[in-house]
Amino acid sequence: MKSTMDFIDMKKNGEKITMLTAYDYPSARQAEAAGVDTILVGDSLGMTVLGYSSTVEVTLEDMIHHTKAVRRGAPDTYIVVDMPFGTYHVSSEEAVRNAIMLYQESGANAVKIEGGHLQNFANTLVDAGVPVVGHLGLTPQSVGITGFKMQASSKEDAEELLNTLGKFEMLGVVMTVLEAIPSDLAVKASERVSIPLIGIGAGVGTDGQVLVYHDVLKYGSGKPPKFVKQYADFDEIGVKGIKEYVQEVKDLKFPDENTTYKKKVYEDENNQ
Ligand code: KIV
Repeated sequence: MKSTMDFIDMKKNGEKITMLTAYDYPSARQAEAAGVDTILVGDSLGMTVLGYSSTVEVTLEDMIHHTKAVRRGAPDTYIVVDMPFGTYHVSSEEAVRNAIMLYQESGANAVKIEGGHLQNFANTLVDAGVPVVGHLGLTPQSVGITGFKMQASSKEDAEELLNTLGKFEMLGVVMTVLEAIPSDLAVKASERVSIPLIGIGAGVGTDGQVLVYHDVLKYGSGKPPKFVKQYADFDEIGVKGIKEYVQEVKDLKFPDENTTYKKKVYEDENNQ
């Protein structure tokens, strides 16, 4: 399993870091088999696997439940887990308590927290030994305010993001996701700090990339954002397979000889 130090070395050596979301045992198995460097159990699971319209309804219990399944599927992969909406906003004390509980119970290697106010309590978590991952730019838990659009596109906002990253670095944050920001800002950010920066909709200049499993594989995900590339079409393959199954049952083609236990339990009653 890679460590936070490995990610820092990868950044230094210019080797891109790959991150993919996973939410359950089979997706985690696939991610590990495919050799991703790190898995994110994102609170995007609210939309991708629970069918909510946003991440807002996701709870700490949901995150723990799904991360445990991901750990069982990917025992040798570094796992980052998202702190869900409302679990780190009320006070720093509550944020720290919830983050420690999530880290302790989920089996993840690090916890990810959206937004700049991570600065208020990151040092307590780092002191406690919890690896912390930041998330700046578009932060999906705040889309009620920001909308789903590019962030930090003015010089002032870009400078603010760079300042926040500088503070994250001083506080010992181990990695940061940069979402939906201009690519030149992402390049500047990556040059400015030693923390590995993982981009999603931030261009090629970040130290790594993250995408959502269901977007990458076109699996029940609807129309993806501009920055997504789809590498397979699970929806098409899945619906085709299910249709064939339905038709074969109707046509008495399934079950067949090969899928039936043939041992006789009852004697042939006509011969008695
Ligand atoms: O929840 C998630 O999947 C994320 C990614 C979009 C980075 O935070």
